[in-house]
Amino acid sequence: MARVAAMAMLLILLLQLASSYRVLAHAHADGALVLGRKAAAGVVDGPAVENAPAGTGRYAVIFDAGSTGSRLHVFRFDSQMDIAPIGNDIEFFAKVKPGLSSYAGRPQEAAKSILPLLEKAKRVVPSWLRERTPLKLGATAGLRLIGNQRAEQILDAVRHLVHKKSKFQYKPNWINVLEGSQEGSYLWVALNYLLDKLGGDYSHTVGVIDMGGGSVQMAYAVSADAAAGAPAVPDGENPYITKEYLKGKDYNVYVHRSQRPPCSYLRYGAFASRAEILKSKNGPFSFCMLRGFSGKYTYNGRQHNATARPEGAVYEKCWEEIIKALNLNAPCKTKNCTFGGVWNGGDGAGQNNLYVTTSFYYLASHVGFIDREALSAKAAPAAFRAAAKKACQLDINKAKAAYPNIAESDVPYLCMDLTYTYTLLVDGFGLQPMKKITFVSKVKHGEYYIEAAWPLGTAIEAVSPKKQIGN
Ligand SMILES: *[C@@H]1O[C@H](CO)[C@@H](O)[C@H](O)[C@H]1NC(C)=O
Ligand SMILES: *[C@@H]1O[C@H](CO)[C@@H](O)[C@H](O)[C@H]1NC(C)=O
Repeated sequence: MARVAAMAMLLILLLQLASSYRVLAHAHADGALVLGRKAAAGVVDGPAVENAPAGTGRYAVIFDAGSTGSRLHVFRFDSQMDIAPIGNDIEFFAKVKPGLSSYAGRPQEAAKSILPLLEKAKRVVPSWLRERTPLKLGATAGLRLIGNQRAEQILDAVRHLVHKKSKFQYKPNWINVLEGSQEGSYLWVALNYLLDKLGGDYSHTVGVIDMGGGSVQMAYAVSADAAAGAPAVPDGENPYITKEYLKGKDYNVYVHRSQRPPCSYLRYGAFASRAEILKSKNGPFSFCMLRGFSGKYTYNGRQHNATARPEGAVYEKCWEEIIKALNLNAPCKTKNCTFGGVWNGGDGAGQNNLYVTTSFYYLASHVGFIDREALSAKAAPAAFRAAAKKACQLDINKAKAAYPNIAESDVPYLCMDLTYTYTLLVDGFGLQPMKKITFVSKVKHGEYYIEAAWPLGTAIEAVSPKKQIGN
């Protein structure tokens, strides 16, 4: 029985992984930035869940407004702040398409598009608990691509809708574009929560690097001294350190932001980086493209000639191109930095045990240096370099045959993606090439496999007991 259940679980997970990568792989078609949970297509919800006897505890209603669709997560926590099931699942999940950004200039329609999700949330959360159930909406930075003013109009319409049509607890700034630094710290919260690392000293926590289509974040806890010494940031930017109070402990979470609006955000993500590399190539061809490929790469509405050299790719030259394109060795002004002149957080114990998620996981598992069936696996960054050196030598047809799990549209970029990933981790974030890191897609927590993603972190933070003033 348990065996059958385990097999079924594995099958479902494999299906989800397959569709997740597709979502990721096609996200650039509309300049999308896909982070957070990437579930299978179609509305994933069940009347059975909605009609299940309501549980007690604390609920949180989190909307993840991505560029391809809006997703609803409802989480429930028991009095010990342990995540508790809703019906048969560990969360309630539903989604609608398209995303808010498809309604540019039509804010009322944008707000209306999430009404069905709001109605579902109302059915899931018992009526007597709604007024103390926080509701938050995080829109991916991609929403800003329609223009700041039109993005604001949409968010305003959503705030109005939530206020009028529900009694959930909410504040206007709980419905907003999620900054890279927030996404990073929420992901840190979710991962450490699922791994049961919270409640002790910061040095027992794990660090995390996450890459979506448009951006990259690194988050890890630092000592109070390191936090006090954090450099100032320019006006209007979020500080390097986010304070968290979780399971009775204070944490200073450092977040490396690769998004620096307005000019250079959406540069370092899985799809954004390809555009940057192709844009800044010296001469007609990139040394990163596989022999035999000719075509264009489109990101964010712009096209870039991605045709390969007649002789194909060269790993070392590709590496040089990437370092230059992404300014990965820009000089540090004040303190030790990672890249682009961004402070590195000072290293330290919170970074010793490092996890990488989403794009890193998919690339590693689809290229095959970590087990595709494992939900988490260890490998060193050098594995990306070894894989890159192999892939760069292939022509496009040999590469398709050698990497059947890579989506066909991604194969031409395999040398580029692998080299970039290695370079980002080692030359950018300063990781040691031979030191193993953990690749994770889902974390086993109790009897559930749960994706560590920002919506869960937001929920945990929203319902965690606040620190008493005076302590
Ligand atoms: C890309 O550039 C190459 C070299 O200049 C040229 O031969 C080719 O026609 C271009 N391809 C496209 C699709 O524009
Ligand atoms: C920079 O890094 C070096 C080597 O890790 C370290 O010795 C030094 O204290 C760091 N400096 C600052 C200002 O953090």
